[in-house]
Amino acid sequence: MDDITSFEQIIGSQNIITAEQDKIGYLEDWRGNFTGSAQAVLLPRSTEHVSQILAHADAQNQIIVTQGGNTGLVGGGIPDKSGNAFILSTARMNTVRDISEVNLSMTAEAGCILEQIHTITEAKNLYFPLNLAAKGSCTIGGNLATNAGGLNVVRYGTTRNLCLGIEVVLMGGRVMNLLTPLRKDNTGYDLKDLFIGSEGTLGIITAASLKLFPLPTVRSTALAGVRDIDAAVELLGALQKKSGEKVEAFEIMPGILLDIVSKQFPNIPMPLSPMPEFMVLMEIASTNDEDGQPDSEGAIPLTALMEQFLADNFETGLVTDAVIAQNETQRKQLWDIREHSPEATKQESWPVNTDISVTRADFAAFYKDATIEVKSVYPDARICGYGHLGDGNVHFNVLEREGGDPNWPEKREAVKHAIYNALSKVNGSISAEHGIGQMKVEQLKEVKDPVALEVMHQIKQSLDPKGLLNPGKILG
Ligand code: FAD
Ligand code: LAC
Ligand code: ZN
Repeated sequence: MDDITSFEQIIGSQNIITAEQDKIGYLEDWRGNFTGSAQAVLLPRSTEHVSQILAHADAQNQIIVTQGGNTGLVGGGIPDKSGNAFILSTARMNTVRDISEVNLSMTAEAGCILEQIHTITEAKNLYFPLNLAAKGSCTIGGNLATNAGGLNVVRYGTTRNLCLGIEVVLMGGRVMNLLTPLRKDNTGYDLKDLFIGSEGTLGIITAASLKLFPLPTVRSTALAGVRDIDAAVELLGALQKKSGEKVEAFEIMPGILLDIVSKQFPNIPMPLSPMPEFMVLMEIASTNDEDGQPDSEGAIPLTALMEQFLADNFETGLVTDAVIAQNETQRKQLWDIREHSPEATKQESWPVNTDISVTRADFAAFYKDATIEVKSVYPDARICGYGHLGDGNVHFNVLEREGGDPNWPEKREAVKHAIYNALSKVNGSISAEHGIGQMKVEQLKEVKDPVALEVMHQIKQSLDPKGLLNPGKILG
């Protein structure tokens, strides 16, 4: 019996895709940087299905590449071009198993779309704060496998910080049940953390216990032009102090990025004119009803706090211009700018994309130094570094000169080198939130502590001795 027939017996032929045209969407990544090939796409519906698939794969030496929403940005979910692999998509494992309002926790299967989790929790006035522009497609399993960051890390941490436990299927088919609603559990090694961020190379996450929070009842969102990058960093500390740690998001965006968003998405309004060189998009939020209760003059306390903060910092000179969203529609317009940024830059160009983190203390100096380094090898570069300033995480992206450059493909390597040269001076990370995938395998070897790399190989060897789980990713 061939492998496809065996897998059909496990999950049913209706849960396998073999037709070439139906596989296409699984074989290329979102940016079009990585393409691969596969024998078939398997769509299990249960943990038991995944277990039987991995038992068969182990017995027959079949390669399994796990995929959630295929929104990953480092080629982690794309198989190689040999055509040997089977893709295991978690798309049909999307049940929320339970949700506890008292314990502030839920159990969701790996294929649950992040936005689906938001909808379900918000209907109960609960909040799962992981938030990224790919939320309509990415899955919680993929979020865990990449330890995704996103827009609200400054307050709630990365996906790792939002996870209480996981269920994971190991190569060979054993199911390891680490699901738990408990907040404290010091019973030996923390195995869940080994699988979070392991990008499908150690096991397949089939479900997760997640932390929930009370849903904020009031938010204030503002877009502010800042004097320069140093001012943006200073403003972050000031807002955290002023608001009593209510800062949910603090994103830096250069004017050049908004010009590109505006060009690619002309229907998204640009609120500040003239366009500042740098802006921050900031949001504070509260669950305290008093923060949202209008006073006798109709002013909402949380909005008043933001207004006062911006007025004060107009005086200090850190802020040069600002708008505050007056309602949910205006708030959405501000976030639309940020959330369309990856798509807009993709449509505009083939940028050098990075996912760098540095300390807050180094942020401004790094940004300026990387700009100088890049300009020294390519003076006309459009520097479009934006992202999660709240976490010291910048997508320091670079585009070819305005109007296009036929030699851009050859110049990209020098630009990349210039950025990472600046990064190495401040000991930053080459991957803050996207992972290693296949894109950064060689870079990881260069920058990671050699003993740490050795231990990673030992772990891989003990959990997947035949190298059948997502080969070529992270460790190569
Ligand atoms: P996939 O792309 O399908 O897979 C990603 C990796 O996880 C692969 O290595 C895959 O093998 C593995 N994997 C998937 N599911 C499982 C599982 N159940 N068990 C084991 N391994 C698994 N990322 C951020 O961190 N912050 C952002 O702000 C952000 N913004 C984005 C915006 C856009 C427009 C896009 C396209 C992407 C963005 N990303 C961001 C990257 C991406 O959305 C995240 O990496 C996301 O967590 C991937 O989820 P996914 O379900 O699409 O995973
Ligand atoms: C973002 C993705 C690229 O923050 O991580 O837009
Ligand atoms: Zn990001």
